[in-house]
Amino acid sequence: MLTPRILTLGAVLAAVSTVAGQVAPGFPVSSDPESLTVWYGTNQVSPPGELLPRPDVLTAPSISTPVFSSTGKAVLFLVDLDVPLNGTRVQLLHWLASNVTVTGNNDTTLVVPSPSEADYIPPSPPVGDIPHAYTFILFSQPEGFSINETFADTNSRIGFNVSEFVSSHGLSQPALAANWISVQNLTGTATTTFPPPRPTNGTSTNTTTSSTATPAPFPGAAPMVLGGGRFVWAGIATGLIAAIAAFAL
Ligand SMILES: *[C@@H]1O[C@H](CO)[C@@H](O)[C@H](O)[C@H]1NC(C)=O
Ligand SMILES: *[C@@H]1O[C@H](CO)[C@@H](O)[C@H](O)[C@H]1NC(C)=O
Ligand SMILES: *[C@@H]1O[C@H](CO)[C@@H](O)[C@H](O)[C@H]1NC(C)=O
Ligand SMILES: *[C@@H]1O[C@H](CO)[C@@H](O)[C@H](O)[C@H]1NC(C)=O
Ligand SMILES: *[C@@H]1O[C@H](CO)[C@@H](O)[C@H](O)[C@H]1NC(C)=O
Ligand SMILES: *[C@@H]1O[C@H](CO)[C@@H](O)[C@H](O)[C@H]1NC(C)=O
Ligand SMILES: *[C@@H]1O[C@H](CO)[C@@H](O)[C@H](O)[C@H]1NC(C)=O
Ligand SMILES: *[C@@H]1O[C@H](CO)[C@@H](O)[C@H](O)[C@H]1NC(C)=O
Repeated sequence: MLTPRILTLGAVLAAVSTVAGQVAPGFPVSSDPESLTVWYGTNQVSPPGELLPRPDVLTAPSISTPVFSSTGKAVLFLVDLDVPLNGTRVQLLHWLASNVTVTGNNDTTLVVPSPSEADYIPPSPPVGDIPHAYTFILFSQPEGFSINETFADTNSRIGFNVSEFVSSHGLSQPALAANWISVQNLTGTATTTFPPPRPTNGTSTNTTTSSTATPAPFPGAAPMVLGGGRFVWAGIATGLIAAIAAFAL
């Protein structure tokens, strides 16, 4: 007879078997269950969600995937779901590149154009905050794909809405492949208080990804900004401006 403990394990294993790609818990876009292989220097991210020291993520990683052939193009995103802003958690676009190819010769390493639409910004969570979850996600690139928005500076990347962007730009879901990392900065004293973590229904510290997790609600963030530096800064507490400034690297 199964004990409750075994039943619980069974439930967890069932959840694992239905994972919708290796996106961070609560990530609002699903992916096929293929994992992007992400190398920061000599460290291969494993398991998904691995907590990495910030000094290890200063330069863009090398990424590979077996799911993407040398004949196609792809669009790569890196999105932080956990940026504290005005009492809630919003998204920050860390990297967006179209025209991603593979090197060929059976090497599935991604060739990411640089400059890209939004060049890589290293993860840099504010000191004292919870670990932030950063999701790498790769989509097949449709014919004639183009991006109107500009993401020239950090301000234009705060309040990104990855699900809306993906839908409005005709990227097909689920994505081809994904992976994610966590980064936390505990090397100083927090200069502000932080909003509560996003609700992920208990999966945030585990590598198990719930395909049913819903994105965090964003009270007061309703018509979010898609680039162009149109973000309204009025009303943001000074401490939060300082926290956001930590991203402006
Ligand atoms: C921040 O929150 C306050 C109170 O909810 C609101 O009045 C203000 O418009 C918000 N600011 C931004 C930038 O969302
Ligand atoms: C992607 O490639 C197409 C075709 O070569 C080119 O027209 C377009 O400008 C490229 N996009 C970017 C962001 O470089
Ligand atoms: C690529 O892999 C295929 C199948 O494993 C092999 O037949 C082919 O020779 C390889 N090509 C190169 C350039 O290594
Ligand atoms: C942590 O944050 C502080 C304050 O922003 C910064 O000075 C420090 O370099 C950060 N540490 C790491 C390891 O990123
Ligand atoms: C993102 O946009 C969708 C509509 O496309 C909306 O339902 C959702 O609430 C938005 N998310 C955020 C965080 O603003
Ligand atoms: C990009 O701009 C063109 C021309 O203004 C417009 O037709 C198109 O709908 C825009 N695409 C998106 C995704 O906003
Ligand atoms: C998450 O991991 C922790 C520590 O490994 C474990 O105690 C907890 O039961 C796990 N939660 C889920 C939902 O798997
Ligand atoms: C997550 O938990 C909240 C609070 O317990 C609950 O209201 C919500 O329905 C849950 N969402 C999912 C997708 O399970």
